[in-house]
Amino acid sequence: MRIIYNVYFHPLSRFPGPPGAASTKLWLAYMEVWKGVDLTELRFQLHDKYGEIIRIAPDELHFSNPSVYNEIYNLNNKWDKDHRLYRATDLDSFFGSPRYPEVELRRAVFNPLFSKSAILKTQHLFYERLDVFCDALRAQNLAGKSSNLSLGFKCFSADATSLYCFGACFDQTLLRDFNAPLLVAMEQSLPSFSLRKHFNVIVWVVRNFSDHPLMSIFPSTIRSLCLLYKILDSQAKKIICDPQQLEKAPPSNILPKLLNHEVTNRRPVITTKHILRESQVLFCAWSSHVIGTALMTGTYHILHNQEMRERLLGELLTVWPDLNQPPRYDTLERLPYLTAVVKETLRLTPTTPVGLARVVPCEGATISGVRIPGGVRVYQSSLFVHLSEDIFVCASDFMPERWLRPDAAKLNRFLVAFSDGPRSCQGINLAYCEMYLAFAHLFRRFDFRIDEKRPASLAWKEHFLPYYIGEHLHVFCSPRPS
Ligand code: HEM
Repeated sequence: MRIIYNVYFHPLSRFPGPPGAASTKLWLAYMEVWKGVDLTELRFQLHDKYGEIIRIAPDELHFSNPSVYNEIYNLNNKWDKDHRLYRATDLDSFFGSPRYPEVELRRAVFNPLFSKSAILKTQHLFYERLDVFCDALRAQNLAGKSSNLSLGFKCFSADATSLYCFGACFDQTLLRDFNAPLLVAMEQSLPSFSLRKHFNVIVWVVRNFSDHPLMSIFPSTIRSLCLLYKILDSQAKKIICDPQQLEKAPPSNILPKLLNHEVTNRRPVITTKHILRESQVLFCAWSSHVIGTALMTGTYHILHNQEMRERLLGELLTVWPDLNQPPRYDTLERLPYLTAVVKETLRLTPTTPVGLARVVPCEGATISGVRIPGGVRVYQSSLFVHLSEDIFVCASDFMPERWLRPDAAKLNRFLVAFSDGPRSCQGINLAYCEMYLAFAHLFRRFDFRIDEKRPASLAWKEHFLPYYIGEHLHVFCSPRPS
């Protein structure tokens, strides 16, 4: 009965799409989990076949026209996030809260901590972490080995962001070959996202039975998720249990704010669980994986293009002639070519390939000139903007120069890596700072040679975040003499 209603009588029955998708939401589960289809690829294929608006599940529409992005994600639309998608993240922090009013206060309290001026005042923390990172690259080079930059960038970012946000650094960068259990578990647990999204009971099982011997029969990606939770749990305990932490912590520390009753939805005291959830978002899921992935992607492209490398180094030398005197972040962000590299990296890295679905409010909405009834889930993956040939000529090519052309300013509004609207990324300033500093320090301090014996691949699959399938990026990093 339900299937007949969905196909013939549902308010969305006039929208094109595969008949299976219109019938039941299990169709997407079948495609993604059973057939192992990559959802990003599937969306592109379906748009080619069915046009600009597709019905991808009984109550879900995806839009391909890039001009629609700002119609969905803008400051006026305080629409709920789709709980079906976000509950699978298992985060009861503000990232996972579907309703805007629930997060409004917390966002307002955290805004000053993530403001540009707060970051400028605290930037020395990042320089310290970069020194440690660069020392590790130097030591690896001295031992005649290439460095795993895919993990190295994540380690740097995890250390820098946790220090900034919690005043605690877990020294992931110091681990041999950057083989940090936290980051490896994070990476390997990503495929479990697709399972969790369709079968939410898995989240419950993992939360409650992670130590049970029967967990060994679950796929390795679920076991990695259990491990990830355990590591984060113990780190969160360390953060909370150290009484001197708050005194030593930088002003950007979010702990005192988390202790605030109003911000924690009036829950009386902060618990390990709160910190755990926040930290998963702030310094694990986003910071380390997303920033690390972006830095790896940008580096991969630059290393494959001698001209780009020389141009970047030439520009860096203009503000950083003496290796012992690194320029401040505010100087670096004024460099046009470095800025172009950062932007192009964000455009071409599939940082959040998933469609960040929003629920149309009950009064309905007009999107792309079409009336959409309330309750429908609508979204557009940022890749449909970033890879649009109408906006970015030769969109699949890494071309920082595109951001330097006389008419480049008009491209800025199409860079939507941090999304837009009331639920856009709160860590945008922090992310930009880490990216500028990491690129500048790496390319100014080192000369690179790709490890040909371990050819890296940029092939990935969508599991909310991108999950890279091939070998990590391994590079020989020889220090520049001056
Ligand atoms: C290159 C790096 C990053 C990218 C591309 C990125 C991207 C995004 C995107 C697209 C969203 C919107 C998600 C949604 O609509 O559900 C988001 C949300 C968020 N990001 Fe980031 N992010 C990055 C780094 C960071 C960092 C470093 C932090 C903080 C330390 C951070 C904190 C957050 C938070 C708290 C939210 C949730 C906002 C809300 O739900 O109201 N992000 N990010």
